[in-house]
Amino acid sequence: MTATSKAPTDDAPSLAHDSDELAADYEKLSAPQQFESGKRLAADLGIGAGERVLDVGCGTGLLAEHIAGLVGPPGSNGGHVLGIDPLPLRIEVAQVKARANLAFEVGDANDLGALPEASFDVVVLNAVFHWLPDKPRALGQFAWVLREGGRIGMNTRPPNASGGARFPMYEAMAQAMAEPPFDRYPRLPARGVYQVEPEEMRALLEAAGFTPTRIEVRPSVQVHATPEAAVRFSEASSFGNLLGHLPPELRPAARAAMANRLAGLMTPEGIVQQGQRLVAMAVRA
Ligand SMILES: C[S@@+](CC[C@H](N)C(=O)[O-])C[C@H]1O[C@@H](n2cnc3c(N)ncnc32)[C@H](O)[C@@H]1O
Repeated sequence: MTATSKAPTDDAPSLAHDSDELAADYEKLSAPQQFESGKRLAADLGIGAGERVLDVGCGTGLLAEHIAGLVGPPGSNGGHVLGIDPLPLRIEVAQVKARANLAFEVGDANDLGALPEASFDVVVLNAVFHWLPDKPRALGQFAWVLREGGRIGMNTRPPNASGGARFPMYEAMAQAMAEPPFDRYPRLPARGVYQVEPEEMRALLEAAGFTPTRIEVRPSVQVHATPEAAVRFSEASSFGNLLGHLPPELRPAARAAMANRLAGLMTPEGIVQQGQRLVAMAVRA
């Protein structure tokens, strides 16, 4: 098997809207959300001492740091974690966590050809797969870096995770963007997320040379303390794609308009979004 090295596809989400502020917000606001489900994924994958793990789309590195604790004390047993992410500002935040058995690099799921073939025991993608438009290409890259018998584990957002109509939170934000002056700047359709159904996930994994061991949809709850925190989380976790279609000078007003709509969804616990998560695990055949 060889790793291909095409440039990222044109319809990929934009990587140009990130900022220091969004990276810092993500570090804070993802701790009770993505990080918790990531820890469970790492446990389900049975990541253990001495393993070499690649965290693809590691963001600011919270999960990679946790996994470095699972693979063993620095330098003692060959256990090592490499976190890669295409956003330099997220990697900058992550670098503070680097140590003997934990490294971070700017890198893209679409092109892992610079990493040696079969050099990892485990590949992890936590809240990343739905951001990748070209799934076969990315899965081919993961198969390249994994040794035979190595495992891949992914937490991702399935289509229709709300189980029907759009999530009330997203509906409220879309309503805010349908008002003037924001409606003059329609969101590019290709800048969405690329979700797959469980059966599609299974087929994609098999086509890339993996044997699925678990494909499961689980309930997933996100809680945001305030309407403003909900907007900040959506903006930070989409690395700026939420409002990237608007001129920068309109974005503060757009955040306020969204928060205003979201205020209607506040409960004593905050804004609670009951959704679903697709968990996929497989072994490299
Ligand atoms: C919601 S964040 C998840 C971050 C981290 N995995 C976590 O658990 O908190 C999505 C991440 O996917 C990354 N991403 C987007 N496109 C990517 C690509 N082509 N290759 C690798 N990562 C990508 C983004 O840069 C971002 O850091």
